Amino acid sequence: MSVAGGVGKIRVLPGEVISRIAAGEVVERPAAVVKELIDNSLDAGSTRITVEVVDGGRRSIRVSDDGEGMTPADAPMAFQRHATSKLRSEHDLSTIRTLGFRGEALPCIASVSKVQVTTACRTEPVGTRLILTGGALTKSEEVAAAPGTQIDIEELFFNTPARKKFLKTTTTEFSHICQAVQQAALAWPGTRFRLTHNGQEVADYPAAASRRDRILQIYGLRFVEQAATVSGARAGIRVEGLTVQPMHTRAGRTPQELFVNRRAVKNAAVSHAVYEAYGAYLPKGRHPQFVLFLDVDSERVDVNVHPTKREVRFADQDLVFQAVRSAVRAAIGADTGAAQAPREFGASMPSFGSPFQTTDRSGAFGSVGGGSAPVLYSLQGGTESGTPVAGEQAQTFLAGVEREIIPLGQLGRTYLVAQVGSELQVIDQHTAHERVLFERLCRARLSQALPSQPLLIPETVDVPAQHAVLLQRHLPELEQAGLKIEPFGARTFIVRAVPALLKPLDYAALVLDLVDDLSQWNTTSPLETRLRSVMASLACHGAVRAGRAMELPEIKRLIEEWVEEGLPTTCPHGRRVALRLPEEELARIFGR
Ligand SMILES: Nc1ncnc2c1ncn2[C@@H]1O[C@H](COP(=O)(O)OP(=O)(O)OP(=O)(O)O)[C@@H](O)[C@H]1O
Ligand SMILES: [Mg+2]
Repeated sequence: MSVAGGVGKIRVLPGEVISRIAAGEVVERPAAVVKELIDNSLDAGSTRITVEVVDGGRRSIRVSDDGEGMTPADAPMAFQRHATSKLRSEHDLSTIRTLGFRGEALPCIASVSKVQVTTACRTEPVGTRLILTGGALTKSEEVAAAPGTQIDIEELFFNTPARKKFLKTTTTEFSHICQAVQQAALAWPGTRFRLTHNGQEVADYPAAASRRDRILQIYGLRFVEQAATVSGARAGIRVEGLTVQPMHTRAGRTPQELFVNRRAVKNAAVSHAVYEAYGAYLPKGRHPQFVLFLDVDSERVDVNVHPTKREVRFADQDLVFQAVRSAVRAAIGADTGAAQAPREFGASMPSFGSPFQTTDRSGAFGSVGGGSAPVLYSLQGGTESGTPVAGEQAQTFLAGVEREIIPLGQLGRTYLVAQVGSELQVIDQHTAHERVLFERLCRARLSQALPSQPLLIPETVDVPAQHAVLLQRHLPELEQAGLKIEPFGARTFIVRAVPALLKPLDYAALVLDLVDDLSQWNTTSPLETRLRSVMASLACHGAVRAGRAMELPEIKRLIEEWVEEGLPTTCPHGRRVALRLPEEELARIFGR
């Protein structure tokens, strides 16, 4: 389109500024359109923003706001490349306080879709409606409209079939849209956000009094209750938010949200700082869940480094790293040693009773043995970093060989010590049990004998909107793994039954980790592969935790079960199960 002028607020940027703006693809999927439109609504000072999408945003996206609107002169300028009301000179680039600054989003979106915009300012007697197709203005008219702006995008990528082909399933695209809305809502708690999909309300976040309240609306009470409050400042860098207490960390990474000056970004240094803060308090295979807000002087952070503004560059990266690390450390008590260490995890879990008694060993699962080839670890050079030794010694552990098991005790409530056959073994109680459960679940499923057991008291779980749609879609697959979950409202689910092999566990944590897994699923991978990852999660959650005291008979039973499974050397996630010290190795060490 061609619109002359620029007499209003929106003006085309000077050439030297345009050349300094990070170039690249601005809209690669419907969620990027949603993000750009919400950014514009926020920059326009809106207090209510509604996002309505159809078919994961492929069919249509509507974003309406009650912001300042555009004048009849400005409205067409908004679709002019490099035209913006937010930036005037090169100098402004170093002090950006608005979300937008390039004057690129609307023209980029308009060039690959059909757009209708209806906008009105409080100061003007009439509103404006424009229709554009593939970026060309086809209609412009005066209309009566309430103050604010409504933008309708239809048939995204209609004229770029190659890009359209790269769109994922409706579920996946919608899940990305949910995340875009959630992120904006987290950064702007005072603004009300609503989201609908195919006419159904998916999320409604009323204006919240604080960031904490907004986090509560999005991630639920469970997350807020299990999190520590982060609040710190160092060298002009403010760090605020919530981060999970070490004892509640999960395998999944949702949420791991970072905002810099109210902009959702990814930043490796900040993530690293959070992991560093947890340090030894983070058990292997677990991740911290957090929502962190950094406020940094706008001159000390460059937001013009990525075409979709998903990254920022800090002038003082080291200071930011230290500020985040120390704020998170202080929050979780890691600086004073007051944090609840991971080895106390068991304390928060429902009582397991004796977790090894109910397993059916009547042979219903077929013959035992035949697990992966055993690997022995020898002590070399006086260290315990075990070196895998394959070879003839392994033969002594072929399935079917009777082995006496003499439990000796437990070390640090984490490792079982026992004599197994003629070996001294140190066994990780969690990974060993995890592997046993995994093998049994997989075998039961393959022999179509994976009975599920209804829960006496079905448990409700709230999941973030971004995951609800995924969970809903994969419920039939989860049912094949013995897990019966039913929808109960837009973002609430009820766990009705679990595989009978499992003892009572924290079902909400299981479901939250599972949906995190689902979001990583490759829909083209075979069903069995996907089910194995479900089984791995079930096994991990069902297994006895590190930190729980175990008596000798219980220790013996677990080791027996592990031996029956053929002494698998790793858990389903690849962590080592045991350190095995054969008698001959002991003889060698002691020079006998
Ligand atoms: N919802 C809205 N309410 C009021 N004005 C708007 C709205 N959306 C866009 N505008 C106006 O249109 C202009 C162009 O929007 P566009 O998103 O293309 O660029 P930008 O926001 O300035 O920069 P960026 O490309 O970084 O997003 C904005 O500068 C703003 O003046
Ligand atoms: Mg914009």
